[in-house]
Amino acid sequence: MYYPDELIEEVRMNNDIVDVISGYVKLQKKGANYFGLCPFHNEKSPSFSVSSGKQMYYCFGCGAGGNVLTFIMEYENYTFQEALQMLADRAGITLPRMEYSKEARAQAEYRARLLEVNKLAANYFYYQLKQPQGRHGYEYFHDKRGLTDKTIVHFGLGYSNKTSDDLYRFLKDKGYEDSFLKDTGLVTLEERGGRDKFWNRVMFPIMDVNNRVIAFGGRVMGEGEPKYLNSPETRLFDKSRNLYGLNYARTSRASYLLLCEGYLDVISLHQAGFTNAVASLGTAFTSQHANVLKRYTDQVVLTYDSDEAGTKAALRAIPVLKDAGISCKILDMKPCKDPDEFIKHMGPEAFQQRIDQAKNSFIFEIDVLKENYHMNDPEQKTTFYQEIARRLLRFGEALERENYLQAVAREQMIHPDELRGLVNRMGMSLGLKAGDSLNWDGSLHEAGGVEWPAEPGARRMEADGAGRRYGRGESEGRYRSYSGDPQGKVRKPDREDGIRRSQRLLLTWLIENQELFEKIRGIITADDFVEELYHQVAVMVFEGHEAGNLNPAAILSRFINDEDQYKEVAALFNASLKESLSNEEQKKAFAETVMKVRKNSLDVASRNAKDITQLQEIIKQQAALKQLHISLD
Ligand code: GTP
Ligand code: MN
Repeated sequence: MYYPDELIEEVRMNNDIVDVISGYVKLQKKGANYFGLCPFHNEKSPSFSVSSGKQMYYCFGCGAGGNVLTFIMEYENYTFQEALQMLADRAGITLPRMEYSKEARAQAEYRARLLEVNKLAANYFYYQLKQPQGRHGYEYFHDKRGLTDKTIVHFGLGYSNKTSDDLYRFLKDKGYEDSFLKDTGLVTLEERGGRDKFWNRVMFPIMDVNNRVIAFGGRVMGEGEPKYLNSPETRLFDKSRNLYGLNYARTSRASYLLLCEGYLDVISLHQAGFTNAVASLGTAFTSQHANVLKRYTDQVVLTYDSDEAGTKAALRAIPVLKDAGISCKILDMKPCKDPDEFIKHMGPEAFQQRIDQAKNSFIFEIDVLKENYHMNDPEQKTTFYQEIARRLLRFGEALERENYLQAVAREQMIHPDELRGLVNRMGMSLGLKAGDSLNWDGSLHEAGGVEWPAEPGARRMEADGAGRRYGRGESEGRYRSYSGDPQGKVRKPDREDGIRRSQRLLLTWLIENQELFEKIRGIITADDFVEELYHQVAVMVFEGHEAGNLNPAAILSRFINDEDQYKEVAALFNASLKESLSNEEQKKAFAETVMKVRKNSLDVASRNAKDITQLQEIIKQQAALKQLHISLD
């Protein structure tokens, strides 16, 4: 749905940023701004500022910034549409409704009804847990599994009665017809009438990211088959997409998610303070799961069971995560079986330590591989080393390969020179050239480089889109993993060149200072900002100043569809707090910056000049610029 700018602006203006953010962050007024602890990174002293005048927020610690819409998008992990809807509701503004076709409307109604029934059922199960007949279930959760009352409420846990058509009768009383109820997955219809799918089980409602119940899991209390029973797939519930616990984990502060296998793993972890845990619930981890996760993070720590099945599942999940551009580490659970057991026996601190020590997925794969070989047998040992070398050849980039080589050498106690020799010989015997790598199936991936071995620094810029080349999504910035800085979000390296920096500085000064703007009138125009993003912002800033109504938060809304862009724009509107113009030296810097930006813009224009007249005009202006003296006094 496309909303006009005016409407977006109306919603934004009717939601005061200080009011809205105060609902999430404790703010204190200091001078013209409000300060608080940044909700987007962990910190002890407040560097998160909210400006009532600009209607923007900015964190001097992590660089998060934007207007009220981006705040809701980032904090709630909402899409733009969702954030707009929420703020419109908050301000009592009705957004125009989408024009549904008759069919689409029927579908939406059907979904709404399914949601309604699931909610009723969840309440029903929860209610039963608190009744005398649910005592058994409550004791199971509370005494046997160590869940607190708070946790039970938080996850909406429940109990399904021993009688086998309890819920069915309850829902019939509410007026739902059989034909609809059979679609919910909660009952089955038999000749004698309806029967509940779940009975005499403790119940786990499964929620979507918006906290709506979409399905259930039920566990036998004690031994019994099947241990877990899950709702079938419905129009609401898609097993290959849904992740248990994501409704809570998505607002967790950590920059990575913990991925585990079961309901109780997630619940135990959340109870122990690891609110970033999610589970794929017994089904294999799919690429759809990975794409969902990718909306929230690009770093995952796998906390699968330590048994053989868990290890196999982890090995299968690794490439799926990588393909989605998520880097992953594997947590060593031994001697415990799963996170639930680990937390119970070893405690949360020990678990945090295991997170910090989590293994890089490549090293993990080599570890698992090693178990196939008898290391006492020289021949098997050699084969093992050769297999390592072969896997190292999957890295097409010399530096990346070398880093992994050193890590594996350390881990497996092989001399790095020997391993390097082995890799080089194998590379040559396979006819690899610089930048080439082996695909996952062992076939050659050609990059078209010079003779192998590569000189360090020879880089491949593009990863192969088709092949599952190891390292995709893992190169450069992204892979500077979270071990060193577990809380901080991974940020892009600062590669700003001089002229870009000058344009940025000038723009920040002009934004802040109407007086400076007057001074450069006639010398600089918005078109002198040749960097595309700065140009767009400059046009609006110049217009704003001219009309005397510069509106930072409104300008920011124009960039809301691109996270990188709105962050940078937010930084522009807040940078001046750090880089103000108070003394002579700074005034000189300002004058120089003006000259530099103008000169660069003329240089660019002269390169693009279409004819001789244009060029002559530019040369005239270049000469004039040399004579120019900018005074701020
Ligand atoms: P607890 O034994 O209660 O601690 O559960 P767990 O989560 O440790 O169980 P397990 O590791 O055996 O299984 C992990 C997840 O797989 C569970 O949480 C379920 O989602 C799913 N699962 C396990 N057993 C079954 C089953 O018998 N049927 C189905 N459909 N799913 C199961
Ligand atoms: Mn378990």
